[in-house]
Amino acid sequence: SHSPRVFSGIQPSGNLQLGNYLGALKRFADAQSSGTPTLYCMVDLHAITVWQDPADLRRATRELCAGFIASGLDPEKSILFNQSQVPEHAQLAWVFNCVARMGWMGRMTQWKDKAGKNAENASLGLFAYPALMAADILVYHATHVPVGEDQKQHLELARDIAAKFNHDYGADFFPLPEPVIEGAATRVMSLRDGTKKMSKSDPSDMSRINLTDDADAIAKKIRKAKTDPEPLPATLEGLDGRPEARNLVNIYAGLAGLAPADVMTQMGGKSFAEFKPALAELAVDRLAPISAEMARLMQDPAEIDRVLARGAERAREIAAPILRQTYDIIGM
Ligand code: ADP
Ligand code: NA
Repeated sequence: SHSPRVFSGIQPSGNLQLGNYLGALKRFADAQSSGTPTLYCMVDLHAITVWQDPADLRRATRELCAGFIASGLDPEKSILFNQSQVPEHAQLAWVFNCVARMGWMGRMTQWKDKAGKNAENASLGLFAYPALMAADILVYHATHVPVGEDQKQHLELARDIAAKFNHDYGADFFPLPEPVIEGAATRVMSLRDGTKKMSKSDPSDMSRINLTDDADAIAKKIRKAKTDPEPLPATLEGLDGRPEARNLVNIYAGLAGLAPADVMTQMGGKSFAEFKPALAELAVDRLAPISAEMARLMQDPAEIDRVLARGAERAREIAAPILRQTYDIIGM
């Protein structure tokens, strides 16, 4: 049996938003003190499955690292690193390309959504993406993977790859990693449509709060957030069928570190004209220091590069022996 180790990755694709913070970065930071070894990776090899402007990619990678640190991730406690600097990811991914089956990959809903009817023109990397993701996790023998609901299918595929490798080579070598799925309470929805996830890829900037937004932008986006005309109900159950209201309550709870039920105790019965300014004040209070710290860190890219280089060194200390054993099992 394998000792617990946490791995998670985020693509450096710009526009870190409140959902990334409450659903990922803040959770990662909060979990740091648990004592379980944690690795957090900027997955630039995943980002290039669709073309990226080189200067943008370099900047987004540093900005993501700055976002991790500004959100409370301590590079001494967690291993923060950039995927392309640890060649063992790509090396194990090749092995997994030979273990995974075409049919498995073809059934991935994200592949079908992203490649759509134009699969002929999608990159081979986009198709093989889940095998690289399996390698990201398994090259560390990671056992727990905090992911969004949309990555659950890819994580099941990682388990299938691990199980098939173990079976094909008669080796009980790779753990079957467990997803740690974000709960509904930490899923942040769009400010323009309470049924859609807040996302950096949403074309409307008003739909999300970016971690780089200043206080005025944050307050304006909350003031203009879509709501219904009713005041907040007295209890959580009263939010059923009111996705926009529920979302603002969840955001308040996440930022305040309260359970949503406790927010209702404080805010139940208030109109949005009262609740929105309170939420805006809280959001500015919690997020302005993060955006200021990101801006400060981005002024010294060489320091960010040193953090990433040190993280890559530490990651390789774990990955290199696991890759060596993998090759040995295969006969290489
Ligand atoms: P995006 O959806 O903005 O492209 P990613 O897919 O790169 O973001 O997600 C990176 C991490 O942030 C994942 O752990 C994901 O679950 C989390 N995340 C992204 N958006 C949200 C959201 N709206 N609510 C909660 N967590 C989110
Ligand atoms: Na996404």
